[in-house]
Amino acid sequence: MQGRYYIRSFGCQMNEHDAERIRALLEARGLERADEPHDADVLVYNTCTVRKSADDRLAGHLGTAARLKREDPSRVVLVTGCLPQAEQAEFFARFPFVDGALGPQNLHRLPDLLEAAVEPAGASPAGFFEDGPHLSGRLAARRERPFQAWVQVMSGCTNFCSYCIVPYVRGPERSRSVDEIVAEVQGLVADGVREVTLLGQNVNAYGRDLHGGGEAAPSFAGLLRELDAVEGLERIRFMTSHPKDLGDDLVAAVAELPSVCEHVHLPAQAGSDRVLRRMRRGYTSVEYLDRVRALRAAVPDVSLTTDLIAGFPGETEQDFEQTLELVREAAFDAAFTFVFSPRQGTAAADLPDQVPPEVRRKRVERLIDLTQRQALASRQAWVGRRTEVLVEGASRDGRLRRGRTRQNVTVNLSGAAEPGAIVTVEVTAATSTTLRGVTV
Ligand code: SAM
Ligand code: SF4
Ligand code: F3S
Repeated sequence: MQGRYYIRSFGCQMNEHDAERIRALLEARGLERADEPHDADVLVYNTCTVRKSADDRLAGHLGTAARLKREDPSRVVLVTGCLPQAEQAEFFARFPFVDGALGPQNLHRLPDLLEAAVEPAGASPAGFFEDGPHLSGRLAARRERPFQAWVQVMSGCTNFCSYCIVPYVRGPERSRSVDEIVAEVQGLVADGVREVTLLGQNVNAYGRDLHGGGEAAPSFAGLLRELDAVEGLERIRFMTSHPKDLGDDLVAAVAELPSVCEHVHLPAQAGSDRVLRRMRRGYTSVEYLDRVRALRAAVPDVSLTTDLIAGFPGETEQDFEQTLELVREAAFDAAFTFVFSPRQGTAAADLPDQVPPEVRRKRVERLIDLTQRQALASRQAWVGRRTEVLVEGASRDGRLRRGRTRQNVTVNLSGAAEPGAIVTVEVTAATSTTLRGVTV
């Protein structure tokens, strides 16, 4: 097939990684990348539906796609990812100009979808949504940077937190074998990769579904030990950790293994035990803070980041103050804060005691205010210190270099280091999101 493709991806890292695989599949079929939708023959939108705001953003982009399709009906519009998986027939009814769609468990069928989508006009749109044991982690990816790679260690989620649509659109937890992951990472390192980020919705559950579970099943901490032994791999990151499954073996692995970076993303969601129970998170605030203390005690300079939801159904002012209290105690290095968004089909969407939207918004503003002050204090504590930075490219304004510390903090730095280099930087200034430094 000849021509050019345009891809736009939304949502979590898992989806970004899926987009890399979509690019590899399209390029293997001879399509070249276009940076703008109007330059492309095939338009792909890789979607997220975790909150309503994600759906709304996509609708704008699909408006552009519809207009381009009207201008040139031979253009192919494909939608992949979590939104069509959630809506299926309803999705095609809402966006009749879309030629084909597939869900995250069917990425390997993209070539079939493309073929079906270029069928004579008038044919009904193609859709692939069935759940099967396909691990998209096995598909090749077209990486954005030669020295960094995502590695999917598992797919799906079986936790069914009451607010979350992910288990419905990504299927049950399925782990890849240790051997397969180690072989992939060895291949990546031979190809120039220095940093890998291991991906799973709950990496702490890694392996539970293998070898019948129990004693015989591999653990995530064990996987980290195997990967740390891969010669030439400098940095290992991972996300996301679920507090209920974060054991002392993982704390020890982060503390002991030289290549495992000192950063744990540990979504708390809320600080009230009543709300946590209704969210079906499987831990109390005391248990959460115990994990925070264990990590801070064992791992010097560990960076702890989190996700928080404001205005979950039934959340009272008192409940919300307990979230603020947990945030103060945990002293997060950074946080993603969200307003609760009811998702059709999830248990929380049907709870009777929904919090009014303006109350949700006011609460999230208070969370943003507190977590930003914490993030600034955390960044400022680095001023005057030296730290290791992996250079990723140019800074936003193009005048400096930009890279990341082991704690996953962005640094704008002066000096001539090439992308992919690991350098020592003296930190000279900080904002709540970035550090400024000089290469030494
Ligand atoms: N698996 C991870 C975990 O256990 O936290 C991440 C899941 S989700 C992709 C990322 C974040 O989105 C969640 O941690 C949660 O804070 C937020 N989120 C999920 N569903 C939401 C909803 N219905 N409304 C608001 N925020 C939501
Ligand atoms: Fe969603 Fe909970 Fe699974 Fe995370 S662990 S993806 S929040 S259901
Ligand atoms: Fe969104 Fe799907 Fe990720 S709903 S957050 S893209 S798993």
